[in-house]
Amino acid sequence: MNDDFLLPPSMAAGGPGVDSLFKFILWFSIIFTIVITGVMCYFLYTYRRRAGVKSEPTPHYTKLELTWTVIPIFIVVWMFHAAFDVYVRNQTAAEGATEIRVRAKKWSWEFEYPGGDRVPQELHLEVNKPVKFVMSSDDVIHSFYIPEFRWKRDVVPGQYSYMAVTPTKTGAAHVFCAEYCGTQHSGMLATVKIDTPEEYAEFKNTLGKMPKGYTPEKWGEELFTKNGCTTCHGVGGSGEVGGAKSPGPKLAGLFAKGQEQMADGAMITVDENYVRESILRPNAKIVMNYNNVQMPVFVLKDDQIDAIIAYLKTLK
Ligand code: CUA
Repeated sequence: MNDDFLLPPSMAAGGPGVDSLFKFILWFSIIFTIVITGVMCYFLYTYRRRAGVKSEPTPHYTKLELTWTVIPIFIVVWMFHAAFDVYVRNQTAAEGATEIRVRAKKWSWEFEYPGGDRVPQELHLEVNKPVKFVMSSDDVIHSFYIPEFRWKRDVVPGQYSYMAVTPTKTGAAHVFCAEYCGTQHSGMLATVKIDTPEEYAEFKNTLGKMPKGYTPEKWGEELFTKNGCTTCHGVGGSGEVGGAKSPGPKLAGLFAKGQEQMADGAMITVDENYVRESILRPNAKIVMNYNNVQMPVFVLKDDQIDAIIAYLKTLK
């Protein structure tokens, strides 16, 4: 059976160990299920009730019972040992590992690189370079899962959890959230790009900067989408998600409207300062009828906020 049928491609150093263990346990279970079921069926048939044949109770047969107790114990202990070995190997970061902060929030992943640049929804790694993820959650329990790395770890509010990985193949992998965390749980995805050393150097050069050939509006739109703003404010800030009212207020036409009513009834002026504050301190001002949702804090650089403001102004 080929790998692609059972499992996604393995792209990290810990992958082959997990895969061989998985395949061993799978085939072990399949073979024993067939053998045991077969023997049971055979006995059922051979020793079925027949007219004129009296049943003879069978006494204990110690040797047989010891055999089928002791052999499986050895196999199970061996499986535990092998699995623990793979686990420990995967759990420990190799020397000189790059630390990347992973922040989970409803409903996006954010990656912070050494130097402090934060990038949402897209994780860049360099091939054959060990990384250690230091992970935390801003709200509820999430779970950081990259099938191609054969690795999953809960991300819990109020504490850090860790994961170590050395990617071994260039290409794309996927981040899923593997712990139910609310309505948009299934949309809590991110991409992993495993770069060649040249590609990674180029990526590091562009960190936190407006991509070449972009206008601020276009960059703002990209930041809006990648930071997951659309999950709560709708695509294009439409105020609708999946045909229903979105969890966050409508942003399209906000600047044209010029005013917004707050939860306490006050009218405030919509300007650059209001938008900036709402990104950096989302709970400072709550829009009328939206006090049941808490927007997470977004740490963005000034020119990124400028770009988002430029984009919001284009939304009619
Ligand atoms: Cu985050 Cu499910």
